[in-house]
Amino acid sequence: MGHVLVTGATGGIGRALVGALLEAGHRVTAVGRDVGRLDVPGIEADLADPGTLAAAVGALADTGELPDVQALVHCAGVSPVATVADTDPETWRRTLAVNVVSAAELVRLTLPSLRRSRGHVIFVNASPGMTGVPRWSAFVAGKAALRELADSLREEEAAHGVRVTTIHPGGTATDLLGEVRNAFGRPYDPELCIRPRTLAEMIVWVLGAPADAYACELSVLPSPR
Ligand SMILES: NC(=O)c1ccc[n+]([C@@H]2O[C@H](COP(=O)([O-])OP(=O)(O)OC[C@H]3O[C@@H](n4cnc5c(N)ncnc54)[C@H](OP(=O)(O)O)[C@@H]3O)[C@@H](O)[C@H]2O)c1
Repeated sequence: MGHVLVTGATGGIGRALVGALLEAGHRVTAVGRDVGRLDVPGIEADLADPGTLAAAVGALADTGELPDVQALVHCAGVSPVATVADTDPETWRRTLAVNVVSAAELVRLTLPSLRRSRGHVIFVNASPGMTGVPRWSAFVAGKAALRELADSLREEEAAHGVRVTTIHPGGTATDLLGEVRNAFGRPYDPELCIRPRTLAEMIVWVLGAPADAYACELSVLPSPR
């Protein structure tokens, strides 16, 4: 049981994750754009502006809430569907900022605490093998960077006992997946997808592994129906 910092807590997967963490006895602080929409104590921040995170986290740290963070789960993400020809620099900037730069910045801000607790960083990435997808370049580029960030961080922080896990979920029944499938002209049947709650429970399981081993990568697919 520990104190877990979660991004994306207002989303389909993140909201289920917060519920599963609380049920498992963890304490949760969320980072989100509107603390009024969070189910737990929150840090108000726009992850599209990672440079503002230090002040936002610092404001809460003054209350004594943050120094004991034992895990960080980065679940926030945006997923624009457009060709490179139609993607402007602001879309690139926002996508990379939310999907990867904010993750690196939150790691930087919580590392002292994560090192003290020999804690755990979890990045929610994308489906296994998602590379080079036409009309999804900003998204897949960000997720590729997020995976490289995880792999670098894992080696850097091993000496401090910090574990780093990348989760690769397949289609999970959220509004975001419905919108993305629609943009690609592909069918979306939530019944054929992973339930957010199931994925959330798997993330809680990863966090709860015994001290001698952990899942550094986890690919999760919908079971064949
Ligand atoms: N659903 C799937 O099939 C699937 C599969 C593989 C990977 N994933 C990944 O899983 C993660 C969650 O996906 P989801 O389906 O749960 O999506 P979702 O329902 O759209 O949730 C996205 C979350 O990210 C937050 N977010 C977006 N932009 C933000 C910003 N600028 N500042 C702060 N927070 C921001 C959203 O907050 P707001 O409420 O403020 O917008 C929301 O909480 C994403 O990283 C996604 O790539 C999803």
